[in-house]
Amino acid sequence: MMRFVKMTVNGKTMEVGVDEREMLLDTLRDRLGLTSVKRGCEVGECGACTVLLDGTAIDSCLYLTIWCEGAEIITTEGLLARDGTLTPVQQALVDEAAVQCGFCTPGIIMSATEIVGTGKRYTRDEIRKLISGHLCRCTGYQNIVNAVERAVNECADIAERVSAEHAGDDAA
Ligand code: FES
Ligand code: FES
Repeated sequence: MMRFVKMTVNGKTMEVGVDEREMLLDTLRDRLGLTSVKRGCEVGECGACTVLLDGTAIDSCLYLTIWCEGAEIITTEGLLARDGTLTPVQQALVDEAAVQCGFCTPGIIMSATEIVGTGKRYTRDEIRKLISGHLCRCTGYQNIVNAVERAVNECADIAERVSAEHAGDDAA
């Protein structure tokens, strides 16, 4: 049975007609043409289909689209700045040569975007655990962890600078 779901995808609010058994992965790829969302295992094992749902990284292959009523979804396409500037996570993946075939990359970008969004620092072991839901068939894990670690540190530096500036403003 068809159902209409109102949701915001990459900043655009829309109403999409979907089969009520349809997974978000299929809606994003096949109805909305957002092909950065990769179809891998389709059973929640590989992380290739990861998107942000209200700021939380989820496997879109396991999430029914009808559960997205009123939700905000972001895919890698939604991170693209108008002038083409990459996000700190994307730039770190380039700088650390962490992209081989690139199949796993959009999903990793979305999880890493959630991680750096906390503004916290994480140890290398913590980063490994946080991205352990992503399988890279090219097995370039060292460079991927290097990249996420680099982005985490850069974003934590910025968050700490901003909070020190605010503390200075408050004291003035
Ligand atoms: S396709 Fe969703 S986890 Fe593999
Ligand atoms: S870069 Fe090929 S699957 Fe990860």
